[in-house]
Amino acid sequence: MSEAARLFTDGAAYEKRMGRWSRIVGETFLDWLEAPKGLSWIDVGCGNGAFTEVLIARCAPAAVTGIDPSEGQISYARSRPGAQIARFDLGDAQALPYPDRSFDAAAMALAISFVSDPVKAAAEMRRVVRPGGWVGTYMWDIPGGGLPSEPIYRALKSLGVAVARPGSEISRRDNMRTVWEQAGLQSIETRVIRIPVAYSGFDEVWQSYSVPEGPSGAAIRKMSPGEMGQLKARLREQLPAQPDGKIAYEAFANAVKGKVSR
Ligand SMILES: C[S@@+](CC[C@H](N)C(=O)[O-])C[C@H]1O[C@@H](n2cnc3c(N)ncnc32)[C@H](O)[C@@H]1O
Repeated sequence: MSEAARLFTDGAAYEKRMGRWSRIVGETFLDWLEAPKGLSWIDVGCGNGAFTEVLIARCAPAAVTGIDPSEGQISYARSRPGAQIARFDLGDAQALPYPDRSFDAAAMALAISFVSDPVKAAAEMRRVVRPGGWVGTYMWDIPGGGLPSEPIYRALKSLGVAVARPGSEISRRDNMRTVWEQAGLQSIETRVIRIPVAYSGFDEVWQSYSVPEGPSGAAIRKMSPGEMGQLKARLREQLPAQPDGKIAYEAFANAVKGKVSR
């Protein structure tokens, strides 16, 4: 398993931290993709199945295969009540273990930043999708500050804690378009997807972001209880709390879609 894939080992922790935001952005992405119902899909980098469940609910697929290198994420995905029609495999986006033209559509949700060769991953999606089929991806705009968990990165940075943010550059809209072009996809379009992020109060934010999952989680895992206390205080100071204690801000992702040439 690659270093990036090792950042995601616990499906329940991922759910707590990112699940609901993943679902909201996934819904808009699927509407934009405009793929008809009843298709056979592959969900690449499916993780704990947060997006797979949205895909099943929104697109009524005939069949869905999810693939991800993390056993911990895949076993959570298999347990999801809303994803029972899906099959989940362990594997790498850059070497999909499926024959050419085996699916009608491929989606990669919030995963392209963690793949070391994004063009190879996009070319693999093109290979396994039939001519005329759909291939799309979206990723939080990391350099633009679009992550729902951006406040925790800001707080860590202000405390001088270095956090590696893999695949930051690839999440730029122009770079995503270039990857799709280089992978040989056609009729390429891009867009920004904005979502409202809202928490009932600081405790909910802290419970969500102090879980040791993802790139900031890797830094948090190494912190002493004292350092964690400092981080919590800094996060509280920096978050945009409303008079009633609620916390609300915006997250945004870049998306790209294309078609496999006929
Ligand atoms: C942020 S999670 C996204 C999970 C899910 N698709 C969602 O929308 O919530 C990123 C996922 O990419 C996976 N990943 C990392 N490297 C990968 C690779 N080379 N091929 C496929 N998936 C990979 C990780 O294991 C992780 O589950």
